Amino acid sequence: MILETERLLLRHWTEEDAAACYRYARDLRVGPAAGWPAHNSVEESRGIIRSVLMRPETWAIVWKQTDQLVGSVGLDFHTPVSRGSDEAELGYWLGVPWWGRGIMPEAARRLLRRAFEDLGLKRVWCCYYAGNEKSKRVQEKLGFRYVRTDENVPVPLLGEFRTDIVNCMTREAWVERSGGE
Ligand SMILES: CC(C)(COP(=O)(O)OP(=O)(O)OC[C@H]1O[C@@H](n2cnc3c(N)ncnc32)[C@H](O)[C@@H]1OP(=O)(O)O)[C@@H](O)C(=O)NCCC(=O)NCCS
Repeated sequence: MILETERLLLRHWTEEDAAACYRYARDLRVGPAAGWPAHNSVEESRGIIRSVLMRPETWAIVWKQTDQLVGSVGLDFHTPVSRGSDEAELGYWLGVPWWGRGIMPEAARRLLRRAFEDLGLKRVWCCYYAGNEKSKRVQEKLGFRYVRTDENVPVPLLGEFRTDIVNCMTREAWVERSGGE
């Protein structure tokens, strides 16, 4: 299955994406902002594609014009903030060369449509760690509303604790925002 937007395709991850994934995920500006360490090798990226990125609602983002992989966007169903069967948490990252072109708002908007229209979710959560202004802006552009700030949240993959800002979008808010698309 493929989801499409004006400039992007969202498709499932495959092991063949390992080299491109590693090129982006080795950069210290990418994973640590989202709570995971930089990748150390193409083999490690391949393993993470298999164990994490190949989940059913995690999508590889492809720049249509050149058919290049640019990043990832996904819905995660059982996280510390998203526990119900009719909710999920949105997560995302992009390779640094692709930052600042509005790619993530475009990709995430498409996945929100899928979440509310196809998957029948009632609520999508989205969080960012204090200081991640770029991700904060993405969530503002998408129309997420502030819910709460959690202090001393464990970030297990990095062995540290951070302040987490928790935002949410309800189905009603999305319908209102998207004009009932
Ligand atoms: C967060 C992220 C996905 C943003 O995606 P994006 O497609 O670049 O988002 P946008 O183009 O809408 O830009 C968002 C904001 O980033 C800032 N920005 C834009 N271009 C930038 C650049 N080249 N360098 C630094 N910041 C930039 C701007 O503040 C922009 O907001 P504005 O449009 O109001 O000026 C991307 O920065 C990323 O992958 N970061 C690392 C991983 C991460 O933090 N994931 C989210 C975890 S919660």
